[in-house]
Amino acid sequence: MVNLILCGGSGTRLWPISRTLMPKQFIRLFDGQSLFQLTVKRNKQLCSKQLIVSNIEQYFLALDQLNEVGGVTEAYYLLEPTARNTAPAIALACMALDAEEIVLVTPSDHLIKNHEAYKHVVERAKKLAQQDSLVTFGITPAFAETGFGYIEADGENVKAFHEKPNLHMAETYVQAGNYFWNSGMFCFKAGVFLEELHQYSPAIYDACKLAFERKLTTNDLEFRIALKDMQAIPEDSIDYAVMEKSKKVKVVTAGDIEWNDVGSFDALYQEFPKDDDGNTLYKRYINVDSKNNLIVPSCRAIATVDIEDLIIVDTPDALLISKKGSSQKVKRVVAELKNRQ
Ligand code: GDD
Ligand code: MG
Repeated sequence: MVNLILCGGSGTRLWPISRTLMPKQFIRLFDGQSLFQLTVKRNKQLCSKQLIVSNIEQYFLALDQLNEVGGVTEAYYLLEPTARNTAPAIALACMALDAEEIVLVTPSDHLIKNHEAYKHVVERAKKLAQQDSLVTFGITPAFAETGFGYIEADGENVKAFHEKPNLHMAETYVQAGNYFWNSGMFCFKAGVFLEELHQYSPAIYDACKLAFERKLTTNDLEFRIALKDMQAIPEDSIDYAVMEKSKKVKVVTAGDIEWNDVGSFDALYQEFPKDDDGNTLYKRYINVDSKNNLIVPSCRAIATVDIEDLIIVDTPDALLISKKGSSQKVKRVVAELKNRQ
C-alpha cells in the first residue's frame, strides 16, 4: 500500500503562525514535531511506499522533515508549481502508480492519537479498496461543523456524500444519526480512482493526463509538473469532483481513532496542555484571573488580566486576538492582507 501524503494546503485559518512558506502542517507544534512528521511516522507502519504531493516551494521543508523522522525506503515526490486543490493533486499522484496499487490518501495536517484503532480501521479500508471501492473514513460528528464533508451511511454503504453543507443542513445531519464527518482520508486502487475521475470530472482527468505526460522528471524519485500544464488543470477538491458523484463510495467508521483536524485555533486549543483555569501552559505567560484562553507567545512575555475565552497568538511581525469560537474567520484576515498587497 502507498501512502499518498497531501501537503500542498496553505492553512490560512492558523495565521499568523501558519504562513505561505511555513504552512501549518510543517510547524513544530507537538513536542518539537510537525503534523506532517506525525503523519509520516503513523503511516510508515502500514505502508511500504510514500508519495508526497507538495508545492515546489515547500519541497525542501518536506524533504528535511521527512529525513529527520525517517520515512520508508521508497519515498517519492510529486511537485506542483501551483496548487489546484486535492482532485488534481491525487490524480497526478495516481498516474505515477500502477493501476492495481492500493493508495491510502492522508492529509498532512491532522492529529490521530489512537494508533492501534487507526491500524484496524485502515486494514478494513484496504479490504474494501481491494474490491474496487472508494473508501472514506467516517468520524461521529460532535457538532454542526460546516467546514467538513458529511457521509450519509447505511452500514458500510454510502447513500450520499455532502461536502461542506450550510449550517441548517449540518444541524439536520448531526441530528439524523446516520451521518459521519468525512475525515479527509481515502483508500482506493489508483486505477479505480482515475476511472471515476474520468467519468465524473473528465476535464480535470484530461488536463492532469496531459500534465503528467509532459512532466519534468529530474530523477526516479521526483516528478515535477510544468507551470503552464498545472495552470491548465481546473481547480477542485476530490470531495466535489468525485466523492459527491461516485457510486463506489464506502465508509469505515473511525470514531475511536481520536481524530482532530486541527484546522483552526479552536481545534488546536483542545490539544494543548492547560492550567487549572483552562489557559494553555507557557512559561512566559503571566495569568491574573484569566480563564480558558489559548495563548501562543513568540519572543516576548504575555500577560492577561481578567479576560476569558480569547485566542492570543503572537509572532514577531503579527499579533492575532480573536474570540474563542470565531477562529474559522481568521482566513478572512489572510484574504484582507492579500487584498492590501
Ligand atoms: N498537494 C496538494 N495540493 N495538497 C493540497 C492541495 C493542493 O492543491 N490543497 C489542499 N491540500 C492538502 C491540505 O494540505 C490538506 O492536507 C488536505 O489536502 C485537505 O485539504 P484542505 O484544504 O485542508 O481540505 P478541507 O479541510 O477544506 O476539507 C477536506 O477535509 C475535511 C476534514 O478535515 C474534505 O475532504 C472534507 O470533506 C473533510 O471533512
Ligand atoms: Mg483541512
